[in-house]
Amino acid sequence: MILPFSSLNLSSGGNPQDFFWGCLPFVATPPEVVHRMLKLAKVSPSDIVMDLGCGDGRILLSALSDFGARMAVGYEIRGDLIKEALAMFESKNLIDRVKLIKGDLLSADLSEASVIAIYLTGTGNDKLRSKFEEEVKPGTRIVSHDFGVDGWKPAKVECFGGHKIYLYIMPEALRENNRKPSLGLLKFLARRVDRSGLS
Ligand SMILES: C[S@@+](CC[C@H](N)C(=O)[O-])C[C@H]1O[C@@H](n2cnc3c(N)ncnc32)[C@H](O)[C@@H]1O
Repeated sequence: MILPFSSLNLSSGGNPQDFFWGCLPFVATPPEVVHRMLKLAKVSPSDIVMDLGCGDGRILLSALSDFGARMAVGYEIRGDLIKEALAMFESKNLIDRVKLIKGDLLSADLSEASVIAIYLTGTGNDKLRSKFEEEVKPGTRIVSHDFGVDGWKPAKVECFGGHKIYLYIMPEALRENNRKPSLGLLKFLARRVDRSGLS
């Protein structure tokens, strides 16, 4: 029996002290959910799609072969999975359009991504939240399988065959409601002004 990741009791309801990135197991997103995630994020040929904790590379493969994404970038801590994914992309002649990095997703360079896929945990998403808020460019879509990002406002949530898919669009996800900007949104905008040299 294949258990969904969410049944592993690693959600944000658990004690963050019990959580270690290294213990975050490889649980693959089923193909039909992968497709739904990328469809929800409206992946197109202009996109650079990133998967943080890319496992066997299936989300990246679908982004390239089903949605024609320009480039796919994956970060994965496990060398055996990177090796497996590399062999798969080579066999499909897609190696020129994919970049796989063996390393910690917390050190990922998010600046070029236009779509970021995650299937981590509530605690994992908590750890990534400030990195996202600081590093992604405006318009980036973040699509998360089964776990939402606390404090963010999803553009859409889809329930699909027992799975949940959350779509966030930056920086709108940081808006508390349609009128009132959150502190996170104000900080995001201030950083953009800083970087553009307008300050
Ligand atoms: C639930 S799996 C998701 C795999 C893939 N994204 C998918 O949806 O099919 C989480 C993945 O994150 C990887 N991982 C865990 N901690 C990591 C870290 N600190 N840096 C990079 N990858 C990590 C795991 O090895 C695993 O492959």
